[in-house]
Amino acid sequence: RVNDPVTIVIFGASGDLTHRKLIPALYIAYAQDLLPEKFTIVGFARRDYDDETFRTMMADSIKEFSRLPTDDETVGRFVSHIRYHKGDISSMDAYDDLRTKFEDQEAYPENRLFYLSIIPSLFETAVRSLKESGLVVKPGGGPWTRVVIEKPFGRDLESALALNSELLRHLDESQVYRIDHYLGKETVQNILSFRFANAIFEPVFNRSYIDHIQITASETVGMEKGRGGYYDEYGAVRDMVTNHLLQLLCLVTMEAPGDLSAESIRNEKVKVLNATKLDIRKEISDAVFRGQYGGGTDGEGGRIKGYLEEDRIDPESNTESFVAMRLAINNWRWAGVPILLRTGKRMARKTTEVAVQFKVPPLQLFQQVECEDDVCDITRIKPNTLIFQIQPNEGIFLKVGTKRPGMRFVVEDVKMDFSYSGTWNKSLPEAYERLLLDTLHGDSTLFTRSDEVEAEWRVVQPILENLNALKPYTYPPNAWGMPEADWLFHGVEGAWRNK
Ligand code: BG6
Repeated sequence: RVNDPVTIVIFGASGDLTHRKLIPALYIAYAQDLLPEKFTIVGFARRDYDDETFRTMMADSIKEFSRLPTDDETVGRFVSHIRYHKGDISSMDAYDDLRTKFEDQEAYPENRLFYLSIIPSLFETAVRSLKESGLVVKPGGGPWTRVVIEKPFGRDLESALALNSELLRHLDESQVYRIDHYLGKETVQNILSFRFANAIFEPVFNRSYIDHIQITASETVGMEKGRGGYYDEYGAVRDMVTNHLLQLLCLVTMEAPGDLSAESIRNEKVKVLNATKLDIRKEISDAVFRGQYGGGTDGEGGRIKGYLEEDRIDPESNTESFVAMRLAINNWRWAGVPILLRTGKRMARKTTEVAVQFKVPPLQLFQQVECEDDVCDITRIKPNTLIFQIQPNEGIFLKVGTKRPGMRFVVEDVKMDFSYSGTWNKSLPEAYERLLLDTLHGDSTLFTRSDEVEAEWRVVQPILENLNALKPYTYPPNAWGMPEADWLFHGVEGAWRNK
């Protein structure tokens, strides 16, 4: 439970994130008695609402989007903590008015969390104005000020460096909480626990035993409503790789931290990111493949729009909706182990997983078979694979070869599995529930530090500088994998999983 009384100000309060995620997450924390006794939530936006209208809207959002069942009485008590502040983020008056309101410390506790759910181009203006209007209190003993920002943190290395330096001109690093919602997912946090709470896997997590690692985040959605403008400017590399996928890579490949403090964990992540490079042999296209979905039919006679036909997308756009890449980690543990990443929209299914594929045994004593209805084919040997299934069907699976019952000494691939739903019969907390509570507790472990963000951009910077040499290939909607991206596997024992 959080003890410090707090005022939470949400900039961009009329936006989608506030409705769908932030307010429902705060409500769940409240319903579970995890918020402090005294708290006020201020919605800051330009629209002309008053407290009452805004409260009603928030109550509706909670009822629609809460992960857990809601009851009117608790929702009513929760929304009575909400107020609305009408103002323009770019105008100093809005901040001065807010400061005047904050003089009433009974209504607005002095610990302040500013959540910037706004377009990235306004981050700097908002942080500068907060500072200049005296709304930011320096860290050290007294009431605290924390600022949460949502990705994207820049659009390349240069802009990320500029953004960090601007943020850190007005705030201390310890006051900045850069959200990567993947880190709020239970299954993502469990990668670290699984690796370092068990003695069995860690000794074999290295180049001597592991053949390669595949990280996949595929989505069935195309351009969701209202997203085209943002997405077309960013694309899959910036939207998914430079944050979520590289964070997954860090967690599965980093060294054990000395302790669980935010600094120890983030130091290890930065180290492994600094050792990570695109695995370019001769040309960038050896290591990167970009794709863009074309149009097609949905199987029921309906038409699926291609990327270039989507709303607010430049019809000549060169932006990728799919990217696959091969990375190398140049350190003692991982040298020579290919790390393959892929992510895309309009793919055949939604899945996020990290698959660690081990080397095959040195000698093949048994024949490996693959059987259907007792009809077995002899196949090439199947390596062990450890799969962190981030979503859906959350769990961890280990594929191993085992003797198939019968007179023959043949080996079949089977799955040893742990699933969240089969083990704990309750729904998993949403990423934002965990992350918002961490910001209130002042725990930045699951947030990205400035040097970490910069190290992430360094990994993908050669792609951003060579977009012309990497024209996107058009793939059919609902495709799975992409044969054209297969050659990223040269020299690797295996292929993209789940073809
Ligand atoms: C967001 C991206 O950060 O993550 C979206 O901007 C993407 O484009 C989303 O759809 C995927 O998140 P999740 O939790 O559904 O895997």
